[in-house]
Amino acid sequence: MNSTLWYPYAQMKHVKHLPKMVKANGVMMQLEDGAQLIDGISSWWAVIHGYNHPALNAALTQQLQQFAHVMLGGLTHQPALDLAATLVRITPEGLNHVFFSDSGSIGVEVALKMAIQYFTNLGITGKTKIVSLRNGYHGDTFKAMEISDDSDFSKAFSSVLHRGFFLDIPAGGFEATEATIQPAVKQLEDLLAAHHKEIAAFIVEPIVQCAGGFHIYSPRYLKAARELCSKYRVLLIFDEVATGFGRTGKLFAAEHAGVSPDIMVLGKGLTGGYLGHAATLASTEVYNSFLGDDRDKALMHGPTFMANALACAVALESIRLIEEENYLEKIARIEAIIRREFATLNFPGIVHKRTIGAIGALEFKEVSMLAGFNTFAKTEGVWLRPIGNILYLMPPYITEEQEVVAIIDVMRKWCQQMR
Ligand SMILES: Cc1ncc(COP(=O)(O)O)c(C=O)c1O
Repeated sequence: MNSTLWYPYAQMKHVKHLPKMVKANGVMMQLEDGAQLIDGISSWWAVIHGYNHPALNAALTQQLQQFAHVMLGGLTHQPALDLAATLVRITPEGLNHVFFSDSGSIGVEVALKMAIQYFTNLGITGKTKIVSLRNGYHGDTFKAMEISDDSDFSKAFSSVLHRGFFLDIPAGGFEATEATIQPAVKQLEDLLAAHHKEIAAFIVEPIVQCAGGFHIYSPRYLKAARELCSKYRVLLIFDEVATGFGRTGKLFAAEHAGVSPDIMVLGKGLTGGYLGHAATLASTEVYNSFLGDDRDKALMHGPTFMANALACAVALESIRLIEEENYLEKIARIEAIIRREFATLNFPGIVHKRTIGAIGALEFKEVSMLAGFNTFAKTEGVWLRPIGNILYLMPPYITEEQEVVAIIDVMRKWCQQMR
């Protein structure tokens, strides 16, 4: 189609009439043709409080009356200071310094820059490579593509990507025993033992790899990774852009393992899905390596819209809601409903069902089994968009029981009509 507006992840030749959203409230999206859809995936996992939330709207309006934005270079402002302090308070211990940017991908870039420059600032040369996990996804900018697994997202650029090292995720899911995860731990230890002098960091999406297929793995692996990274002087980075702010049932996925990374990236739910923003948090050890009289040691990064005042104000209000309105309970309730409904959703084409927190994923044998699903779901009043052969839900945390059931019923109906 000849379109002025260029859409993401789409073959524009085939993009025709996309549904147009005109209004949204709570979990309901209202389309121009009058259709009302339950958002089953929180607008790419970000709209965790649903749409048009009165408290978030009020926080934005209040900040708007002061100022919408000011550069952070040479100036500061209270919403940025407050959000940095709040993030330090709520994230795993030791992450004491916050660098803001405008999207998850850029937050990842900042994390990688911090990791590589940490070593050069200490006068240790050669540690520039990054280790990551197969099926991982860390964003669409160049370095983020480089450390993400080879996939449709990065295929067009494979000839210019300087790949580092990739490891298998441990087998056995969340409940895996020590013995089951051992081969993956050994692979990590062998790699670090042989190459630690070249490696700056190991980056993972802790507990769940989302865009790469909703693979869930054991917190034991994160514990082992923490120990091995410390032993071999490699920084551990947790990309919690998708898992942060409650999605896996803990405020941060790192909490399942009780470990702190050296660097952590947050995005998506940070602003309750209202505005694009990200935060890269660093340990004092990392931060201190950037201190000195020499400007060469400084972190030379500064997105125009970093710490945007509206984004900071809405993020602070979003965190207040999470803390004061028992969001972890809401998420646990959603998890229980997903588990209950998935237990009776059986179809020979489903090879694996995976659930954790407010995430439910069904892996199908073939990608083709989900062709046309998005349109079908829309006619059934639900907004869902499979990724490859995975049909999943990641609803806003305010989603009521009957709405979660309605979302899963659409999946059920799809399977029934395929039989
Ligand atoms: C784990 C992870 N990291 C990074 C990103 C990139 O975030 P953004 O789309 O805001 O650039 C994503 C996006 O889906 C993600 O899931």
